[in-house]
Amino acid sequence: MFITFEGPEGSGKSTQLPALADYLQEIGHDVICTREPGGTDIGNQIREVLMRMDNTGLHPRTEILLFLAARAQLVEEVINPSLAQGKIVLCDRYGDSTLAYQGYGHGLDLDTLRAMLQFATGGLKPDLTILLDVDVPTGLKRKKIIEEWNRLDAFELSFHERVRAGYHILAEQEPERWKVVDASQSPAQVKAQIQSLVMDKLAQHF
Ligand code: TYD
Repeated sequence: MFITFEGPEGSGKSTQLPALADYLQEIGHDVICTREPGGTDIGNQIREVLMRMDNTGLHPRTEILLFLAARAQLVEEVINPSLAQGKIVLCDRYGDSTLAYQGYGHGLDLDTLRAMLQFATGGLKPDLTILLDVDVPTGLKRKKIIEEWNRLDAFELSFHERVRAGYHILAEQEPERWKVVDASQSPAQVKAQIQSLVMDKLAQHF
C-alpha cells in the first residue's frame, strides 16, 4: 500500500511520518519511508540543485522538470519495487506537491502538469494521501523555528496561501483518496488521527 503525506510548509509531516512508520512496524507491517524531492542517490543530487539558496535563476519550468526527474527515479528505484514486495510505502510529498506548488502556487497549467506526472510516475497514484492542514502563518512560523530556511521557503505569503487552497481543491476532487487532518492540533492528537485513518484504509485494502 502506498501512502503519501502532503501539506503546506510547517505542517508537521516530518514528525508524523516516522511516528506512523514506527506504529505500523510495531504491529507487524513491513514499512519503507521516503521523501521528495530525493529518496535516492540521484534524487538527492537533484534535491541539492532545487534547494540551493543561490539558485535564484531557476525557472519554474526547469524546477518542475527537476522535481519530476527525482520522482521518476524514486518510483523506479524505491516505490515500485517495495510495493511489489508487499511493503507499505510512506512518502513525504509526491505528485500532489507538484500540482499544489507548481500548479496552484505558480499558476502553471494543471492539465499539462497532470500529463507530465503521468509520464514521470508511469501513472502510479497513492492509495491514501494524508493532508496535514495548517494555516499559513502558523506553518511558516513553525518552520522558521525548527528547520533551516531554504530557497523555496522564501516566496511570499500569498504563494503559500494559494498552495494551501490548492490542496483543499485536490482533496475535494478525490475524497476517497484524500484524508484531511487538522495539523494545528497537538502532535499526539494528529498522530492518533493519522493512525486511525490508516487502520481504516488497511482494513479495506487487505
Ligand atoms: P523540504 O525542505 O523537503 O520541505 P518540507 O519539509 O515542507 O517537505 O522542501 C520541499 C519543498 O519543495 C517544499 O517547499 C515543497 C516543494 N516542492 C514543490 O514545489 N514541488 C514538488 O513537486 C515537491 C515534491 C516539493
